[in-house]
Amino acid sequence: MRIGVIGIGHVGLVTAAALADLGHEVVAMDLDAGKVELLQGGKSPFHEPGLDELLTTAIGSGRLSFTRDPHDAVHDAGVVFICVGRPATQAGDPSLTAVEAVGREIAQHASAGVVIAEKSTVPPGTADRLRLTIARERPGLEFSVVANPEFLREGRAVRDTLAPDRIVVGSDDSRGFEAMREVFGSIVARGTPLLETDVRTAELSKLASNAFLATKISFANALARIAEATRADVVRVTEVMGADPRIGEAFLSAGLGYGGYCLPKDAETLVRISERAGYDFALLREATRVNEEAVAAVAAKVEEAVWNLEGKRIALLGVAFKADTDDVRSAPALALARRFVAEGATVVAHDPMAAAEAKAAVPELETVDDPYEAVSGAHCVVVCTEWSAYRELDLGRIRDALAYPILVDGRNWLDPTQAEEAGLTYLPVGRLPRGPETERGS
Ligand code: UDX
Repeated sequence: MRIGVIGIGHVGLVTAAALADLGHEVVAMDLDAGKVELLQGGKSPFHEPGLDELLTTAIGSGRLSFTRDPHDAVHDAGVVFICVGRPATQAGDPSLTAVEAVGREIAQHASAGVVIAEKSTVPPGTADRLRLTIARERPGLEFSVVANPEFLREGRAVRDTLAPDRIVVGSDDSRGFEAMREVFGSIVARGTPLLETDVRTAELSKLASNAFLATKISFANALARIAEATRADVVRVTEVMGADPRIGEAFLSAGLGYGGYCLPKDAETLVRISERAGYDFALLREATRVNEEAVAAVAAKVEEAVWNLEGKRIALLGVAFKADTDDVRSAPALALARRFVAEGATVVAHDPMAAAEAKAAVPELETVDDPYEAVSGAHCVVVCTEWSAYRELDLGRIRDALAYPILVDGRNWLDPTQAEEAGLTYLPVGRLPRGPETERGS
């Protein structure tokens, strides 16, 4: 099938490459000339494991191309995916201006019978708005609008797209369902369930999924506070909980809380949609508050350990919002960095991939290429991202390089016994501190 993809962000690019890999002919469009040029040269504008290989094959096969002209992507496409961003307005509401603008462009260029698929995460009712916009712009055009929410995770996006847990299609007519069955036929044939719903249900299901994941993480972080107060171990508590299949072990890791482009924004959006609909989603409001508290709790550990921050040097290991990505959007590490800088500390950060992005977001940050250099002369080191390389660090060398031997583990990522044996004062989240400056077990 000929497919157009509008918006070449994380979701758009991975979707375009994956659909070409499945055998479709895909034209992906973005207004950003730099991005399109980079991609025409076969290079991805961001890091995502497996994406470069997928792009090389797809471009080489002639089934994937990039353009700045919406006409090229839309005019003879059977399905057009809308993958544009949905930034927050100043008031915090999701801005759907880009989605509307794309709807108008599609209306101008589309052929009869086109199916327009929303992949961008949007509030319920957006498809109805799009339908009306397109009908006003191009009276008489035959078309359908479907919701096809995307659940891919950064760092696993290629795998999540080619072998997802589920595919969701919301449509209010049979043409929409039929087209999407054709698009995803080969994935469904390999056993992925295809869940078909009405459009508004599909739109809400994406927001609900991310809001639930956010709530699950915040539950673990609230438990961490209780565990600290009662001298229990939150890692073991969540392990016990997770062994119950009704609960599941995923997304129960306590620490600095959730960041990234989706979870914080989607939780916030659902709170606002609920308010508008006359329902106070207090549970979700509280989950977002607990997420802010998670950063504050780690900051308090640092402040308690080093005393005054003014004139101190704080090292951050990891600034990406999670491992295997160079994305620092809403990264808890940057919230910490800003806070420490405001209190007069020098903050030096290491990250295997995201240092440049972090520096661009927080110019006061010093960034270095080597984790041992980051901790050199620092009064405290904070592990902020669960990069596997940090588990391989020589903790004795870290202790020797630090001015004060204090390690705050904001992700409960290191082995407490190894840290203690290396002579570090080890301060995790929701479990007992270890090392010389703590009264272990007393
Ligand atoms: C998320 C959703 O998982 C995905 O389905 C959706 O399509 C996009 O949003 P992503 O933003 O890539 O994906 O990140 P995710 O893996 O969900 O992690 C989000 C944040 O939660 C990270 O900052 C991570 O460190 C944090 N997290 C995750 C925890 O703090 N504890 C956990 O137990 C799990």
